[in-house]
Amino acid sequence: MDIIKIKASIRVHKDEHSLDAKDKELLDYAIKQLDFAYAPYSLFRVGAAVRMEDDSMYPGCNQENASYPLCMCGERVALYNAAAQAPHLKPVTLAIVIRNEKKPITTPVSPCGACRQVIAEFEQRYKQDIRIFLKSDASEIYELRTVKDILPLTFDSSFL
Ligand code: THU
Repeated sequence: MDIIKIKASIRVHKDEHSLDAKDKELLDYAIKQLDFAYAPYSLFRVGAAVRMEDDSMYPGCNQENASYPLCMCGERVALYNAAAQAPHLKPVTLAIVIRNEKKPITTPVSPCGACRQVIAEFEQRYKQDIRIFLKSDASEIYELRTVKDILPLTFDSSFL
């Protein structure tokens, strides 16, 4: 029997000071989106921003609905916003931040499984790994090189 070991590496930044200027700008842009989130049911706000290959940035935030399954995650709103407005540009970096109005969260929150799958589709579509920054209210910052680090054995169109 063989064993497949799955490895992932996550860079941990104590705070924004160790980010380069462009990444800090993207993270700050995502943080700004927290105020625009529509999260009256969960009180869990998610702000996101995507950096494209030409340095432009596209924002997103979660959008909830009284019919709960219709809620849309912030990172997906940002990616779909970018793809709708600039489909010819590769997304290169994604910043995702959260603010829980019910309790402070002190560790970065990872994208849900559905969002990981959507990010993986973007990576495949644009043949471009997307760096991901994650930050919560009062947390350090995680930097991932690609969503594949948190979605191993990724399902994609190569199987279809
Ligand atoms: N949410 C996101 O925006 N991104 C995720 O990756 C996880 C969950 C949103 C959906 C819903 O509005 C709220 O957070 C609580 O699940």
